[in-house]
Parts: sequence; C-alpha cells; structure tokens
Amino acid sequence: MSDVVAVNVAQYYQTLEQHNVVPLWKLAESQQTEPKPDEVPHVWHFAELLPLLQQSVDVVTLGEGAERRVLTFKNPGRRFVGATHSLVASLQFLMPGEIAPAHRHSYSALRFMISGSGAYTVVEGEKIPMEVGDLVLTPNWLWHDHGHEGKQEPMVWLDGLDFPFVASLRPIFYQEIDTSQPVTKPENISLTRYGTGTVLAPKHRPISAYSPLNVYKWQPAYEALQRLRGTEQDEYDGTIIEYVNPVTGGHVLATIAAYLQLLAPGLHTKAHRHSSSSVYFVARGSGYSVINGQCHDWQQNDVFVVPTWTWHEHVAGTEEAVLFSYSDLPMLEPFGFWREEAYTENQGWQQTK
Ligand SMILES: [Fe+2]
Ligand SMILES: [Fe+2]
Repeated sequence: MSDVVAVNVAQYYQTLEQHNVVPLWKLAESQQTEPKPDEVPHVWHFAELLPLLQQSVDVVTLGEGAERRVLTFKNPGRRFVGATHSLVASLQFLMPGEIAPAHRHSYSALRFMISGSGAYTVVEGEKIPMEVGDLVLTPNWLWHDHGHEGKQEPMVWLDGLDFPFVASLRPIFYQEIDTSQPVTKPENISLTRYGTGTVLAPKHRPISAYSPLNVYKWQPAYEALQRLRGTEQDEYDGTIIEYVNPVTGGHVLATIAAYLQLLAPGLHTKAHRHSSSSVYFVARGSGYSVINGQCHDWQQNDVFVVPTWTWHEHVAGTEEAVLFSYSDLPMLEPFGFWREEAYTENQGWQQTK
C-alpha cells in the first residue's frame, strides 16, 4: 500500500501563493509566441490640443506649482503615461518672457520645434536658439533649461523621452536648481564643432553614449531629403534619413533614434512591422497611415504612434508629407531583440477611404 497522500489541488495552489511562488504552467506569458502590446495605434490631433495648451496659461503659472507647462500623452491602451510602453511624448508650451529653471535627469529627452520663435534651450552651458523644425537633444544627466525671449507668440514643441524604459530599470535620478544655469560656452558651440558632418578637429571626437551635437537644424535635414528623394526610396518609409552622432555614426541618444522622412505626393508605402515602437510627428503635409488594418488620418503637427510589432504603412496626401519620428530601436538592438517582418500581401491592408 502506497503511503503517498493524494494532493488537494485547490489547496496546493493556495499553498504556493503563501510561499510566494507561481506555477509557470498557469501563466499566459509562458504561452506567448510574439509581442502582444497593450498599447494601441493612436493619433493626437494638434488642432484639438492647441486650445488646451493655450488654456493652461490660465490654469498654471510657471514658478507657482509648475516649472514646465507640459501636456503628456497617455496611450489609450496604457494604465500609465507614455505614448508607447517605452517612450513618452508631450507637448510643451512656453509664453514670451517665461523661463523654465535648470534641471537634469537620468532619462534622456529630445525636442522637436513645432511653432513660434524666440525661445532657446541651454544644454550644459551652451545656449541654443530654437527654430521651427529643429531637433534639440538633452541627453542623460546634462543640465538643461529654457526661456522665451520673443515678444509675440508662444513657443510650442514636442518632447520625446525614454522615461518608461528607464523607470522599468529603476535608475531614476533627478536634480534641479531654481534658476537658469549660467551660459558658459559660445552660443551653438556644438553646432560649430560638429554641425558640418564632413570635417572634425581631432580633439573634438568624444566617444559617448549620446551625440555631442545638441541641435540638428531643420534646413539641412530637409535639404538632404530633397537631394535624396530622386535616388533613395525605402519601400516602407519613402525617403528617410536618420539624425546621427557625427563622431560615431550611431544613434543620437543611447536609448532613442530619431528620423526625418519624406513621402512624395500620393506615395503609398508597403506595410511591415518591427519589434521597435515609434512616435511620429507630422512636420509637413497630411495623409494617413494604415495601422493594424485601421486608417488613421493625420494633418500637419499631429502626433501618432505605432506600437511594437504592429503592421503599418504610410500614405501621403496630394502634397509631399514630412514626418519626424523617434524610436526605441537603440533599447533593443544591443541585445539582438530587433526584428522586422514584411507584410507580403500589402493590398489587404489598403482600406477604401
Ligand atoms: Fe528635462
Ligand atoms: Fe516602420
């Protein structure tokens, strides 16, 4: 006669819980064969958000309860803020005469100028005037503050951060002072040193995890697209260029890659999906993207997201469209986690409008 006592199954699972262990065979994750993002495709329409940014001036005074006037996007599929699971996207609004005091943090940020004139950012002692279409970097742990010396219009820009990624790893560090930082370097010194892309003095070749160039101007990036449009066509992205670290040729930030792409009038790209997620900003033109089989219309200054492993293709309207985008590709690449898949029957995703 066996002396094995029959196990009470319900009691067994209860006992496991008491010991803080979980039966792996009951977890849905153990059955997962490909990414299943909670995040969903979404478009934030600038025309709807601009009045809310304007009204925020009556709600919040800088220096009294807020240091930056920012509306940050929450993907409808997420419980927490974030445009995707790894990337934050926000709109920031700065009135003439206002300043945002200096701070630094272990998460990195980039900003893309949307409208207005007269504002600047100071990054680690370098004052950088910001013009519409410029990309400005504030990498991990560099002091940055900004101000608006213009007289007329407010300045509006898109902020992109890797905050959810850094928070998932836990090393969130933050410091602030209650004033602007001193300007200790010549204006636009990083642009002077690194901005030509062809020549570099030997002593100015720092190897760091982020680009030493703190600003990428709109005009040369747009002109590069115009030069390349006749010869360089990516089947998924039209004519696309990446903003790169001028010393290493690598991504602009250790965690975020940034791109500018031109879709010729009427261009309809092929569909693909990849394990990186992206935030898109419509710098010029209008059109739509088909994301997981749904049409998402976008106009100039709108922001939309393509979550991880989500089919997408882009369609320009009757004018050319220019999209700025940033991606979490650098978070995946070093570990071999980046994958891409082409949609072979593209026509299936072309909805009738
Ligand atoms: Fe910041
Ligand atoms: Fe893509």
